Amino acid sequence: MRMNELGKSGIRVSAVGTGTWAMGGDFFGQIDDEQCVDAIAASLDAGVNLVDTAPVYGNGYSETLVGKALKGRRQQAVLCTKCGLTAPGRNLTRKAIFMEVDQSLRRLQTDYIDLYQMHWPDPNTPVEESMQAMLDLKAAGKIRAIGVSNFDEELISRCMAVGQLDTLQPQYSLLERGVEKSILPFCRKNGIGILSYGSLGAGMLTGKFREPPKEEGTDKRAGFYPFLREPLFSQALRLVEVLEQIAREHDKPTAHVAINWVSQQPGMSTALVGCKNPRQAVQNAQAGEWELSQEELDRIGQALKEIYGE
Ligand SMILES: NC(=O)c1ccc[n+]([C@@H]2O[C@H](COP(=O)([O-])OP(=O)(O)OC[C@H]3O[C@@H](n4cnc5c(N)ncnc54)[C@H](OP(=O)(O)O)[C@@H]3O)[C@@H](O)[C@H]2O)c1
Repeated sequence: MRMNELGKSGIRVSAVGTGTWAMGGDFFGQIDDEQCVDAIAASLDAGVNLVDTAPVYGNGYSETLVGKALKGRRQQAVLCTKCGLTAPGRNLTRKAIFMEVDQSLRRLQTDYIDLYQMHWPDPNTPVEESMQAMLDLKAAGKIRAIGVSNFDEELISRCMAVGQLDTLQPQYSLLERGVEKSILPFCRKNGIGILSYGSLGAGMLTGKFREPPKEEGTDKRAGFYPFLREPLFSQALRLVEVLEQIAREHDKPTAHVAINWVSQQPGMSTALVGCKNPRQAVQNAQAGEWELSQEELDRIGQALKEIYGE
């Protein structure tokens, strides 16, 4: 497994990380609890050390499953969770952060979180108040590193003015490259590690969808990821065909090409990849065993230009 630094935190993390949004059971369709717990364990066995969750995933359900999976092997994991986004909405006040951290620790069956991330900006709370709360949790030993997610440069700069910010978690994949223009260069310049989310385009970049998936029951992913709907879906499918060709040449799954493309971008700490069962978890982890060549990265770059014009 390729390993990287998690920003300036001093923590080393696997190039592929395990994401657990789907394990909340309320957004990616049906789950089986035992398969989810086994998937996290299998990813650790396959060399992944970073596991990402959040209280909002299934209103605590995902964190509870992560806690079960890490029982007896907590030290093997770089455990990442988040605060500031719960069912009623966004809240990054000091009071809410202090309350949420204790709830997460209970569900995760641990007394420390390795990376604690502000999930989405809270327009009603000065980010300086939130950042100070995070620094105080770090001083108290409840968290080891501080991250933000879905923040822009201005908010990141304001956090940095208060204290050490270690990571940013943005949506970043072959299908969503909006952060490439200025946010990623800014993070690289300032030593902020990147955890990409949606690295597989919610499954699209595995080649499993030949038709746009429908929003049905608890499978709501197409509402969050716009390339699962037309007109973006057809463009995405053209890109998938290029990835499939490269995958065939290596005799590897298409998912590996998508995971490696994002994990090989400069400044990346971990490509977060969601899964629901041990088969997916192990397959995704194995992407960290090899790399795309420069010629292959260029081929993908050319395809992006032809399909998206940039
Ligand atoms: N900070 C944020 O705001 C934010 C937002 C989104 C996600 N995240 C984090 O980032 C993680 C990754 O993003 P994501 O889970 O949304 O999307 P993703 O990693 O792009 O896609 C995950 C989904 O793809 C399918 N899949 C995974 N591996 C596969 C394989 N090898 N073969 C076939 N299908 C496979 C699974 O769903 P099916 O089997 O049902 O198709 C899985 O749930 C999340 O789990 C979460 O931890 C954070």
